[in-house]
Amino acid sequence: MAMSLADLGTSVLKTEYAVRGPIVARAQELERAGKKIIYCNIGNPQALEQKPLTYLRQVLALAAWPELMETASAVFPVDAVATARAFLAGSKHGLGAYSESKGVRFVREAVAEFIARRDGIAADPEAIYLTDGASKGVQTALRLLIAKPSDGIMIPIPQYPLYSATITLYEGRQVHYYLDEANDWKLSRKMLEDSYDGAISAGTRVKAICVINPGNPTGSVLDRANVQMILEFAREKGIAVLADEVYQENVYRAGERFVSFARVLEEEGMKDVSLFSFHSCSKGFLGECGLRGGYFEIRNIPADVAAQITKLQSVSLCSNLPGQLATYILVRPPREGEASFALYAKERDAILGALKERAALLAEGLNKIPGVECNAVAGAMYAFPKISLPAGRTDEEYCMALLEATGICVVPGSGFGQLPGTAHFRTTILPPTERIKDVVRLFAEFHGSYR
Ligand SMILES: Cc1ncc(COP(=O)(O)O)c(C=O)c1O
Repeated sequence: MAMSLADLGTSVLKTEYAVRGPIVARAQELERAGKKIIYCNIGNPQALEQKPLTYLRQVLALAAWPELMETASAVFPVDAVATARAFLAGSKHGLGAYSESKGVRFVREAVAEFIARRDGIAADPEAIYLTDGASKGVQTALRLLIAKPSDGIMIPIPQYPLYSATITLYEGRQVHYYLDEANDWKLSRKMLEDSYDGAISAGTRVKAICVINPGNPTGSVLDRANVQMILEFAREKGIAVLADEVYQENVYRAGERFVSFARVLEEEGMKDVSLFSFHSCSKGFLGECGLRGGYFEIRNIPADVAAQITKLQSVSLCSNLPGQLATYILVRPPREGEASFALYAKERDAILGALKERAALLAEGLNKIPGVECNAVAGAMYAFPKISLPAGRTDEEYCMALLEATGICVVPGSGFGQLPGTAHFRTTILPPTERIKDVVRLFAEFHGSYR
């Protein structure tokens, strides 16, 4: 007899991932039937016409087919050729061979230099693990931390569903802490304490707190004081911190800047808080989601625990090598004076400039619609507006109706979590600028008629 659902564990059946849920399935169906769909459901820049950076793809092409360096080296800038050669030498066997479990040491050294340069702190290549996107790193950390069904992980509400889904899959408990919508989605010590106390009284052993900065889906950017407050909270409670920093390059609002958890940890001399920090090639301005490159860095993790992390990584042998090369370019882009710098900087600035413009256009446009309220998109790639709905309607129904009426595919707020009694949806800011204007116009027409 073929297998059935009854053969599967409840944790698999209970795992939910709204970003690719039924609304997206319906969008694909409508698209096959000839309807034009604007996919605003997922932060996948190259699916929305963003072009890859030339330099990254040149190096990738050269490393994938090294003969190009003999036959066509004149076509490529000298620094792209030099980087491809350095990667091939550093990895020893090129893109087609497994690397060591943590990833190619040459790339990990470049990641350590990047962190040291970004934050003015020391970084150790042996504390860096290259991963297939940040997702795999987050899953590794959660796998490590969740030992029993009573183990809890604090996650923001709203949150990116990688966290809720993985905690469910690994049979731990989600411990929700609410982000304050009225206060630009910032988080407060009181909200952390309330969430922690609630978990303790429910018999949960809280093991870690996850923080997404800049925020998905909220678009908010934490300041240094907020980061320090979270670290102090973690120290007092004796819990680890998972800092998801994949949107560190995506900060748009004047006066805001990204501050890493690693930097504040070191500047405050906190030797007793265990930290995992995640970064990715998928976001920022590279938008190389398909290459699945990323890394995580650990701090204040004892050597025997680190050895267990390495063991977990080695179960899947290593992360993919093209992703490792993309990660190298993420952390070691062309520098001023190098042949590719001018083009690289031009492409980077054009992408970040367009994202900044779209962030403002979308939030301003949404706020003009009666019954829609949207905080400024200070960072990341999303807006998460609050919507008022006719009595008895849910945000899932709203998003499905929006899709049917306009072809705009967004994700209901319930997929990320929201304060009971409120309704939201998440849309990316990624469609090309002209299309964002259409999106806002279509939203306004639809929302008016739906109400
Ligand atoms: C907050 C956050 N973390 C992690 C990821 C995973 O990214 P990847 O696995 O492509 O690096 C995403 C993707 O959208 C995200 O929004």
